[in-house]
Amino acid sequence: MTPIIELPMVDNESIRHQAEIVPLPDHLADSERKTLYEKAKRLLKEHDAVLVAHYYTDADLQRLADETGGYVSDSLDMARFSHEHPASTLLVAGVRFMGETAKILNPEKRVLMPTLQAECSLDLGCPAEAFSRFCDTHPERTVVVYANTSAEVKARADWVVTSSIAADVVAHLHAQGKKILWAPDKYLGDYVRKVTGADMLLWQGSCVVHEQFKARALAELKASHPQAAILVHPESPADVIAQADVVGSTTALINAAQRLPNPEFIVATDNGIFYKMQQAAPHKHFIEAPNAGIGATCHSCGHCPWMAMNSLTTLIDALENGNHEIHVDEQIRQRAMISVQRMLDFAAQRKKPVLGHGNA
Ligand code: 13P
Ligand code: SF4
Repeated sequence: MTPIIELPMVDNESIRHQAEIVPLPDHLADSERKTLYEKAKRLLKEHDAVLVAHYYTDADLQRLADETGGYVSDSLDMARFSHEHPASTLLVAGVRFMGETAKILNPEKRVLMPTLQAECSLDLGCPAEAFSRFCDTHPERTVVVYANTSAEVKARADWVVTSSIAADVVAHLHAQGKKILWAPDKYLGDYVRKVTGADMLLWQGSCVVHEQFKARALAELKASHPQAAILVHPESPADVIAQADVVGSTTALINAAQRLPNPEFIVATDNGIFYKMQQAAPHKHFIEAPNAGIGATCHSCGHCPWMAMNSLTTLIDALENGNHEIHVDEQIRQRAMISVQRMLDFAAQRKKPVLGHGNA
């Protein structure tokens, strides 16, 4: 008889509540924004700092990174870039796990963030102790964790992956006959399981933004935009992924918007991505996929409230006062480094495109 495996309990409702009460930055007048922008530019230079920003951050921060020799990308490439860049200070705009990953890879560098309060619901939903106990119960499984986790969870893992490499890494392990313990995103885990056919035991976390995309409303929207291609980040529910023309990481979705001939795209990921998507394909039209916020108020609908905490004001505070520095315990860092480095080495050797239907 197949043994019944008890899945971990994750209180996604209370995490959603936390997302709903995140304080959002004040709206700045144009003249104030301009002044702050110029000041941030000057401070980056003075402090030998490079800005590495995620696609979901404010357009001002993405532009600042582009104009100052920094980088805007998905979480895998942010890690790669920060590892290779010679600046003595890395200023990471995104959520805390991204700053921690930069520190894990660059212990000799100062890693600052515009805020240390920027959480991620996946990270919050996977506390290190509970996760470690779950791993102890399944010692026969290879532990693969998504980058959206704390340094402690990464230290407990055999592999760290991001959305752009998850399916390839799991396919590689599956081909070696390995069974997987996956954490924390249940939707991405389910997607990877379907694509690879691997035996995967899934932690039950979810992303407060992507979980809210709605399949029925998406089908209706598609019916009224027959020429549109649907682009979906794999943190979305299975019935949304099932309608996608392309499933992939943030970078893969931007590449698809550029590459596909469609004049319109319905996009199921954080709307911060529209800044780069529009730059990549200036003559195309982008529409947000329907989410739970339509006709209602919703703090995390379509845009991550924690990503939104990164602002010019908080970035200047970090540079000017050395605030919001990332520290990671050295023993934990060394252990986490093994699983993060494994991912980077695998990515460097990977020659074929990412697995998945219609992927870029
Ligand atoms: P990417 O690795 O695709 O950038 O995703 C990170 C993330 O947090 C998505 O919600
Ligand atoms: Fe985490 Fe979702 Fe925000 Fe990405 S969008 S950082 S997965 S809460």
